[in-house]
Amino acid sequence: MIELTINGQKRRVDAESDTPLLWVLRDDLGMTGTKYGCGVAQCGACSVLVDGSVMRSCVTPVEAVAGRKVTTIEAMEKDPVGAKVVEAWVKHQVPQCGYCQSGQVMAATSLLKQNARPSDADVEAAMVNLCRCGTYNAIKAAVRDVAGLEKKA
Ligand code: FES
Ligand code: FES
Repeated sequence: MIELTINGQKRRVDAESDTPLLWVLRDDLGMTGTKYGCGVAQCGACSVLVDGSVMRSCVTPVEAVAGRKVTTIEAMEKDPVGAKVVEAWVKHQVPQCGYCQSGQVMAATSLLKQNARPSDADVEAAMVNLCRCGTYNAIKAAVRDVAGLEKKA
């Protein structure tokens, strides 16, 4: 048994210690908001926060997060920064197919928690998740909006 803290709740899972956190979230806990894209730490679809920092859950063994705080997309609307990010995502109509977007929201929330007024370079450096639909400009606009940097239309 491994004890995890996910979105503020203690959860006990019966998983091998090297099972990727992504499988534990999706298959053992039924939390399917976190997506599987590449499985090799390239795309960011599987991003979650661990103690506030972005982590790619497809390559993170579950034992590595025992005793640490894991936050997933399911908790974002209850998080003060996450809620603003989600609101901006809707306002800027960011998602196309949507597949990459929970990971994008996690990356944006992590950035804005650590740096409330990121420069364009900070945004470029933090928002490296892949989007096959090419929503990058809308993502940047939404992040800038939350940071209070978006130009008035
Ligand atoms: S699924 Fe984890 S980075 Fe692509
Ligand atoms: S919205 Fe389709 S992959 Fe990003």
